[in-house]
Amino acid sequence: MVAEKMNPEKKVYGTYSNRDFNRPIPEFEFPEDGMAARAAYEMIHEELNLDGIPELNLATFVTTYMEPEAKMLFMENAHKNFIDSFEYPQVKKEEIRIVNILSRLYNASENTEFTGASTIGSSESIMLALLAHKWNWKEKMKKQGKDISHPNIVFGADTHVVWDKFAKYFDVESRIAPLDSKTLVADPERLVGMVDENTIAVGAVMGTTFTGAFDDVKKINSLLEILKAEKGIDIPIHVDAASAGFITPFIEPDLEWDFRLNHVRSINVSGHKFGLVYPGIGWVLFKDKSDLPEDLVFYVNYLGNDMPTYTLNFSKSSSNIPPQYYNIIRLGKSGYRRIAENMMANARYLGEKLGKIKNLEIVSNAEHIPVVTFKQKAKDIYDLFDLSSAIRSYGWIVPAYSLPADASDTVLMRIVVRESFSRDMADLFLDSLQKAMDSLSGSSTKKSGISPRKGHPVS
Ligand SMILES: Cc1ncc(COP(=O)(O)O)c(C=O)c1O
Repeated sequence: MVAEKMNPEKKVYGTYSNRDFNRPIPEFEFPEDGMAARAAYEMIHEELNLDGIPELNLATFVTTYMEPEAKMLFMENAHKNFIDSFEYPQVKKEEIRIVNILSRLYNASENTEFTGASTIGSSESIMLALLAHKWNWKEKMKKQGKDISHPNIVFGADTHVVWDKFAKYFDVESRIAPLDSKTLVADPERLVGMVDENTIAVGAVMGTTFTGAFDDVKKINSLLEILKAEKGIDIPIHVDAASAGFITPFIEPDLEWDFRLNHVRSINVSGHKFGLVYPGIGWVLFKDKSDLPEDLVFYVNYLGNDMPTYTLNFSKSSSNIPPQYYNIIRLGKSGYRRIAENMMANARYLGEKLGKIKNLEIVSNAEHIPVVTFKQKAKDIYDLFDLSSAIRSYGWIVPAYSLPADASDTVLMRIVVRESFSRDMADLFLDSLQKAMDSLSGSSTKKSGISPRKGHPVS
């Protein structure tokens, strides 16, 4: 979002486009006339070369590699509006298949009607799931003749910014449990201690954005069981499995975090993270049809039948759904497992090497998902923000950020090891990191003055 007024006199000049077109165009004004397609393409193509190289972006969880066949499906379906399921019933069919496939993967009961939807990403999924819980809470309270003006939602400070957004946008009080300074996730006792009868849901994260650590969903579930037995308050859990949802079922199938647990009533996962599809695609899944209030479902006509839809937006491209289905049938569980194991092994290799570098200390080393975080053991003449800037000059993008309360004194760097990051790249990265550190300690005589930022690392 850009708030300031841009200089209307500013012009954009072409390079190779000058073969076809040789006058500048205004940067912030609609040009009067157009230009040759080739010229327009070159101008834009050259300018975009200044973006970072996605494969060297170690900050992002988001997929930067798809097979050529998946890319073909992506392009072949980009011009279909996904909401028009009457015109494009096959894409809709694939969405329904994937909802079923993921619901079974997350151990929903076969006796239920699998309920869920594709979204633009985990943020939309989380908003939709929490909105459903707010609605269910409101109906429950109304039936009991109770006040519905003070809903709250309980989650840890380890959650993604979208949880705060939901609370603000949908007018729900957020009750945030601070991080346990040892586990760097929310303490289940503190979390459940904040719950009361106005709580619409408790949030748990499988793979925090900060360190990749997991909330103890099973413990949270058992504490909520006790609360229900003792006080009759029945609170649903929404699990944010944005990152882990396409990893844990394959490499830790016995870990109980999903619909096997009574209170887990909804789950989100990002198809565009370890689901291995280009952005933006996410999934929201409900344990049972009854968890999604009928009131919130809108119907579009589909082959003469009314097709239920649950989305925040309306039109979107169909491009991501076929590649998601492609990955599922192309890789199968064993393929996703092989890829996950390889990413985990490469992440741990990198973590071990980083841990041997002077003054660096590993904070998390790919315990459940391929994320490595590290900090400085002791104060140096440069900090991790300086290092983040210095490593950028070698092409690598690695964020530095401070943790939320109660661990906000800790500044970390985080590396997400994706499929495209090989061991060879790990060695090249370590080499660049060492050079960046040497140059910072050799040439810098004073600190940069950049102070630790509050807030969230990028996704
Ligand atoms: C734990 C977690 N939840 C939610 C999100 C938001 O996901 P999306 O970018 O798919 O909207 C992220 C993004 O990194 C995340 O890490």
